[in-house]
Amino acid sequence: MSDRVSLFEVGPRDGLQNEKETVSTLRKVELIERLVSAGLQKVEATSFVNPKWIPQLADAVEVLEQVRREPGVLYSALVPNLKGLERARQTRMEEVAVFMSSSEAHNKSNINKTIEETFPVLREVVEAARAAGMRVRGYVSTAFGCPYEGEVPLASVTRVTQELFDMGVYEVSIGDTIGVGTPIVVRERFAALAAEFGAERLAGHFHDTRGTGLANVYAALEAGIRTFDSSIGGLGGCPYAPGASGNISTEDVVYMLHGMGIETGVSFEKLIEAGLFMEETLGRTLPSRVLQAMKHT
Ligand code: HMG
Ligand code: MG
Repeated sequence: MSDRVSLFEVGPRDGLQNEKETVSTLRKVELIERLVSAGLQKVEATSFVNPKWIPQLADAVEVLEQVRREPGVLYSALVPNLKGLERARQTRMEEVAVFMSSSEAHNKSNINKTIEETFPVLREVVEAARAAGMRVRGYVSTAFGCPYEGEVPLASVTRVTQELFDMGVYEVSIGDTIGVGTPIVVRERFAALAAEFGAERLAGHFHDTRGTGLANVYAALEAGIRTFDSSIGGLGGCPYAPGASGNISTEDVVYMLHGMGIETGVSFEKLIEAGLFMEETLGRTLPSRVLQAMKHT
């Protein structure tokens, strides 16, 4: 197993989008700066979706205007359409991410379009973003199961992934949106996708709804995947996927990887401080197991 993994921190976006109480712009900015100072080099800072759909991230432009940008750090954000890209372009983004589902019902619930209707919308976003000099990441949701349809065939995941690569995204993050995946299925699905697209162009995005998140990371590592999305404190969830809960926690995944001798470039101590900062911000205990354990050491 190679000894380095790249973590894509999604806490400020996936982590916060499901929070009911509004977090101030100032706190969001401080969170991003703390994550970067802990050594995370890829941070999904916010989302330029319709603020009526995700009110928590309505301040996307302000967050990205106010955050101190460190050289060498990639700040990304979700963009669902040209309107979102227009807003992203006000804020000097070097990267944006497009997203869709591999199941019809979740796609419709999340972005109000069928899968077929989504392709041309994302194609024009990717084209326009790349023409403006940005890199574009892609997400495929419900890749291990859909809250409305149940099982999702691998062929549907492969098809959507192929379409995103054909549009020109540099990487596709394969999402277990509602945390139903288990390790053998995860290893097999990632092995099949890696054979088709190359492991180095894929990332794993696991929600830990049923406690299989870290086991799924291990399984995907075995299939050659070396980029994982994770969220500080284990915050997260998609408001348009009933039952979705937090992403794998960055603290937990860093603890596991470092223990396995795999480097992440992240300072564990600073990460714990960022996790505690989020607990203070939200006024509650967060799901990260390691964060809780560190309070007693
Ligand atoms: P829609 O309502 O069908 O959009 O939403 P529309 O094009 O019909 O426009 C309606 C109104 O919204 C118009 O305004 C637009 O200007 C405005 P009006 O004329 O009525 O005043 N509008 C916007 N305003 C600001 N920014 C925009 C924007 N777009 C339209 N970008 C849309 C379609 C896709 C926009 C909506 O469904 C949406 O925002 N969905 C996003 C939902 C979301 O953010 N979900 C969570 C993220 S995905 C996720 O969590 C999964 C992931 O983590 C991976 C995994 O776990 O699997 C990535
Ligand atoms: Mg997610």
